[in-house]
Amino acid sequence: PLKCKIGPSVLNSDLSQLYQESQRLLDSGADYLHLDVMDGHFVPNLTFGHPIVKCLRSKIKNAFFETHMMVSNPDQWIEPMADAGVNQYTFHIEPCTEIMKTCRKIREAGMKVGLALKPGTGIEAVRQYVDQADMILIMTVEPGFGGQKFMEDMMPKVQWLRHNYPLLDIEVDGGVGLSTINACADAGANMIVSGTAIINAPCSRSVIASLRETVES
Ligand code: DX5
Ligand code: ZN
Repeated sequence: PLKCKIGPSVLNSDLSQLYQESQRLLDSGADYLHLDVMDGHFVPNLTFGHPIVKCLRSKIKNAFFETHMMVSNPDQWIEPMADAGVNQYTFHIEPCTEIMKTCRKIREAGMKVGLALKPGTGIEAVRQYVDQADMILIMTVEPGFGGQKFMEDMMPKVQWLRHNYPLLDIEVDGGVGLSTINACADAGANMIVSGTAIINAPCSRSVIASLRETVES
């Protein structure tokens, strides 16, 4: 089976210390960083954009950066995010009108392609695009905020993808922690985003280790 990777979301960390927090998570065993970009339009919340990601990259040279683009116009930020040093550009298919084209632009800009689905979006919406993507993100909460309850009823989407694409990277995001990670791994997810479960814990190193242990056992 594919090795599970843990990608902490910095969304609910002390964002005045974004660099320190990110570095701390990487030092605690994170495999990559999941950076939640929100535009206040696709989701009812605002976070940060490419200028901040670029600053973060200038201090953290080696880590894999995934930006989770919760934005209404994903095409608009491809070049700026590539320039900021992003490795993977994960965008929501719901507002996207020409998904194939967007995938191509992301690849031409030198980034990996992630396709994200809101909870209400069925798997059939992404079927024809899976071959264009490096990863599919199945949201397990409504995008917009950390700390929400995990939606276990999203697992059939993960199962379907894993059944049909044994080697595809499948990510879950939202409400994933020690009590929910097993459901995700059992369904076939191999990229695990976890925000508040890691950020609110007294020791991020031990939570990340426990998350890993749980899926590997
Ligand atoms: C929600 C974000 C998630 C979120 C994860 O819109 O995409 O990445 O921050 O946080 P938790 O793990 O607390 O749900
Ligand atoms: Zn996210």
